[in-house]
Amino acid sequence: MRTSFAPMEGITLYCYRNAHHRIFEEGIDVYYTPFLSIYKHHSIKKRDIREILPENNSEQGIRIIPQIMANDADEIIWALGELHSRGYDEINLNMGCPVGTVVSKHKGSGMLEDPERLDVLFAEVFDDKITRDIKFSVKTRLGLVNPHEFEDILPVLNKYPFSSVIIHPRVRTQMYKGLPDIGVFSWAYENSKNPVGYNGNIFHVEDYQRIIGQFPDLCEVMLGRGLVANPALARQISGGSGITLLELKDFIRELENCYKVEIPAEESIMHKMKEIWFYVGNLLIQENGQAAEPYIHKIRTAKNIAEYRNAERAVFKNCIIKET
Ligand SMILES: Cc1cc2nc3c(=O)[nH]c(=O)nc-3n(C[C@H](O)[C@H](O)[C@H](O)COP(=O)(O)O)c2cc1C
Repeated sequence: MRTSFAPMEGITLYCYRNAHHRIFEEGIDVYYTPFLSIYKHHSIKKRDIREILPENNSEQGIRIIPQIMANDADEIIWALGELHSRGYDEINLNMGCPVGTVVSKHKGSGMLEDPERLDVLFAEVFDDKITRDIKFSVKTRLGLVNPHEFEDILPVLNKYPFSSVIIHPRVRTQMYKGLPDIGVFSWAYENSKNPVGYNGNIFHVEDYQRIIGQFPDLCEVMLGRGLVANPALARQISGGSGITLLELKDFIRELENCYKVEIPAEESIMHKMKEIWFYVGNLLIQENGQAAEPYIHKIRTAKNIAEYRNAERAVFKNCIIKET
């Protein structure tokens, strides 16, 4: 059973993945890229290409699985061939994105609307010999509105040899709220002909243990927000130590240094870093035992890079890692 870092658009970009890998490597077997958009005229966005360049990935000693967003057999087959020629042997298809502009184009979780159409699509994709050269997996939700929609979707997936079916057991309308539907997930786990992976709401070591206790034959457990909020979570899951303040500081510094190369505008770097602090801020407490919130608030409300840097310095001067 492998442990993976979930794709998270705007967060788990190559700068983030490499910084995480350097400091918190233990416990993560593979990182997914956020979805790469595949265009009708057979191309990948320039910005997305940087996400899959060897110098930003394998040459840094990190293993990644590119995730694609496409809903047309021709585009998918092209993307599989293109990514294979760039050295990737496993590619994942996004069938879970809940965003309106994606769903309205029948992409992401919008693909779940019509199982018959899905069947036609995968029949064409798996008819191409590229699917014999690479591992092709899907990351899916249970449906658009009702989790029982999956009872019509899984039989379609069962017809094709996916290397894995990673299930985030929510429906599109839930976005990331409410609880994963463990009942329907359990049915899928029992009835899938392909290896099954689990994703959703693993925030603590106990959440992970509960899932693998209940589903011992999972091929993969994928961690998302829980790992962004506590970058040492996978290490703790594999029996290692919790995060230290020094590690958090190094991680933040590595990220900023990489973003300085990747993103020209300092303000944009600040926005990216604020997004990270939104998650990791909860790791901290003031040295006197009070909540770290007043310090994190200063980071959140910084209006320019100088204010941001002062706020960040104050956090590291006055806060420590919370005992859990
Ligand atoms: C900000 C954000 C961006 C995301 N981007 C992607 C994405 O690019 N591809 C994808 O399959 N899922 C994406 N997801 C969904 C996550 O991969 C994951 O399925 C979801 O957060 C549930 O897992 P968790 O509870 O462990 O976070 C995103 C989620 C968030 C919150």
